[in-house]
Amino acid sequence: MNPPAAQPVLSLSAMGKDYAAPVLDDVSLVLNAGEVLALTGENGAGKSTLSKMVCGLVQPTRGQMLLDGQPFAPGSRRDAERLGVRMVMQELGLVTTLSVAENLLLDRLPHKTGWIRRARLHELAALQLAKIGMQNIDPATPVARLGIGQQQMVEIARNLQDDTRVLVLDEPTAMLTPRETSHLFEQIDLLKARGVAIVYVSHRLEELQRIADRVAVLRDGRLVDVRAMAGVRESELVQRMVGREVHEHEGRERRVAGPVLLSARGIGRAQAVRGVDIDLRAGEVMGLAGLVGSGRTELVRLLFGADRADRGEITLHENGKVTHHARKGWRSPMQAIRAGIGLVTEDRKSQGLLLPQSIRVNATLSDLGAVSRAGWLQPAKERGIAQKLVELLRIRSRNIEQPVATLSGGNQQKVVFARWLHRECKVLLLDEPTRGVDVGARADLYAQLDRMTDDGRALLMVSSDLRELMAMCDRIGVMSAGRLVAVFERGEWSEQSLLAAAFSDATGRAANPQASAAPSTESTASAVPDQTAVTADTP
Ligand SMILES: Nc1ncnc2c1ncn2[C@@H]1O[C@H](COP(=O)(O)OP(=O)(O)OP(=O)(O)O)[C@@H](O)[C@H]1O
Ligand SMILES: [Mg+2]
Repeated sequence: MNPPAAQPVLSLSAMGKDYAAPVLDDVSLVLNAGEVLALTGENGAGKSTLSKMVCGLVQPTRGQMLLDGQPFAPGSRRDAERLGVRMVMQELGLVTTLSVAENLLLDRLPHKTGWIRRARLHELAALQLAKIGMQNIDPATPVARLGIGQQQMVEIARNLQDDTRVLVLDEPTAMLTPRETSHLFEQIDLLKARGVAIVYVSHRLEELQRIADRVAVLRDGRLVDVRAMAGVRESELVQRMVGREVHEHEGRERRVAGPVLLSARGIGRAQAVRGVDIDLRAGEVMGLAGLVGSGRTELVRLLFGADRADRGEITLHENGKVTHHARKGWRSPMQAIRAGIGLVTEDRKSQGLLLPQSIRVNATLSDLGAVSRAGWLQPAKERGIAQKLVELLRIRSRNIEQPVATLSGGNQQKVVFARWLHRECKVLLLDEPTRGVDVGARADLYAQLDRMTDDGRALLMVSSDLRELMAMCDRIGVMSAGRLVAVFERGEWSEQSLLAAAFSDATGRAANPQASAAPSTESTASAVPDQTAVTADTP
């Protein structure tokens, strides 16, 4: 049964939240059955705070909510879920030590007189995964073994329940590629048809145009605009969010590439990375595209020594001479760091940041916190550097002593980035560096990347956002099922050709939980070509 169009499911009136200072004030909003409301705004505008209040994760300081006309004041996430109000969190809420199946069915584990029925559990989990095209993830896999994009899909699957009335998706696609995103959108359409009210938070404005019926803009904790999505131009939205014009880097010139600084030959690890050759040159940005699970993150981790390679070699060059040579890769990240390599991680929560610590500590933390060069800290200098970085990247905070845990998601990401801005490194690897960063702030980060290439550093950037890669990179390599299947020069690529390459070699997933599925047939692409033509068809 389809409910009539404008039937309010949830209404908020004069909602507000104070921490040390107010972060949200006077938000009144109605959510209708069967509609998607896009919620947008700059990093720190209050989107997650508002979402969490609706879903019982944060207690409002002021205001009331009504669910189906009844007073609604959930005291916890469970409370809200019991009434069918669910949230896909920006910072994933999975228990990483449990399996995929256990996470999916945590509150409804099938049991028989106290014993969990494993077979049944896995069967139910597999069904739920199949809904979003993730049937190739083994439900028994511990969540910790999945890449972060796959974790995101599990978090989504967990919240696709039949009793859902309101679903809040807080940046569900920040780490997803077009394939996973389209699976998610299919599910959203189904939910809409069932009359679920959906709130969709994203910094990817083109998605909002595709999926949303209305759009609400938050600025400094206040609702500044709510209107129908149809006909709204992206530039208008940006203007409302940021209050200034933002220029995107489109149609840039190719940078002048210098000598090769890093080269890897045949580098690999088990099935995740199957022998990749790659050269990174001074003064250029190379991009790395591919589906979730294609091995992009895994390759970057090998180049940084975060995982140990089981084959291949890495060499670093300076002035035409080899300065470092690592057979079977680096023994540890420390070795890579000493050789002049840096990594901005995709998973800021578990790998990037010391969450309880301040911005100052995190931004100036050197050498992964393990090596201290001089032995003495210089507090004044440290504060000076942190202050400069906060201003440079417009990190929204009370002051540099604010714990990173209490920053908004996008602002945490800026801190991860800031750390490597202040360190010397010749080769910087960036894994989803702009994940969850708003349009305005993204332009700030891009400007910093330009400055680094001007300084002659070599950059390798993984991003799920093809538009971003096409705007920023001089070359784009495409990974598929652990192989680098194609490398395109600026001017040669199109969204179509990049996607075709991404789908070209995705076979043999079942044995490998790190890789995700793609509807593709037997592989024809050879390993490690440079400049190969793409032979595969789009799926
Ligand atoms: N526990 C907390 N203590 C203090 N301040 C907090 C806390 N949680 C959030 N804030 C502040 O509230 C403001 C709004 O944060 P919120 O996470 O809602 O932003 P957001 O719009 O979701 O941003 P993003 O796009 O970066 O995810 C930020 O300034 C943040 O620092
Ligand atoms: Mg947020």
